Amino acid sequence: MRLKDKVALITGSAQGIGKSIAQAMAAEGAKVIISDINLELAETTAKEFGPDTLALKLNVADNQEVEAVIKQIVDKLGRLDIVVNNAGITKDSLLIRMKKEDWEAVININLSGVFNVCKAAAIVMMKQRSGKIVNIASIVGQMGNFGQANYSASKAGVIGLTKTAAKELASRGISVNAIAPGFIKTAMTDKIPEDLKQKMLELIPLNKLGEPEDIAKAAVFLASNDADYITGQVLAVNGGMYM
Ligand code: NAI
Repeated sequence: MRLKDKVALITGSAQGIGKSIAQAMAAEGAKVIISDINLELAETTAKEFGPDTLALKLNVADNQEVEAVIKQIVDKLGRLDIVVNNAGITKDSLLIRMKKEDWEAVININLSGVFNVCKAAAIVMMKQRSGKIVNIASIVGQMGNFGQANYSASKAGVIGLTKTAAKELASRGISVNAIAPGFIKTAMTDKIPEDLKQKMLELIPLNKLGEPEDIAKAAVFLASNDADYITGQVLAVNGGMYM
């Protein structure tokens, strides 16, 4: 029970990696909040956790909604100990064909969304003088990827934001780390054509795609007291694909 009674907000947790992180944190005793832009799915997911689990509509790109939701959590549960910035999207195309609106949509959700949530959560955590923030970046933010100029820029931005927030918040007892997943089996990677997946496997020393649980275990570690002396780091969970 490494997270006993900790209040944990996980964004984009109605499905995929976010849901798996919420499950792993709940198993360690945390009170998890399932938040997602898709409220209906968030409510269905929260029901799987039990009747007390809060499901909230949260579009991370909407700063007003972010502030209102964090206030609602603190009003209801009294504190906010852990935030996992997991919500993210892709809108892939080659750079020269990429529409400005697809660039902006990805940056708004994947990067500005993390800024919005980090800022609102940090204000609460600074008063508490404790907190753990875990930002889900990506291997693509470290090595780039064909067709993902918007996504890779957003995830590289998340890494920079993580390091700065770690420096600014350390003296208040708040740690901020990132996880850079490799290719993980979820709805996001289901979209990748089979031949491309095979090519990718050749680049992964462990020779398999990751499971959402692989990311969840890393998130639990970074959110727990086991990681108290770790801040500003990027933990790569990628089967050795990028070293
Ligand atoms: P997913 O597509 O299965 O789930 C993403 C969730 O975020 C969905 O429930 C969706 O409704 C929600 N969401 C989308 N826009 C939102 C918004 N504006 N506000 C709040 N929620 C929103 O994706 P997956 O694979 O679980 O990815 C989770 C995170 O992990 C993302 O940040 C993604 O970029 C990152 N990641 C995923 C990898 C993978 O291989 N699946 C690899 C590296 C990073």
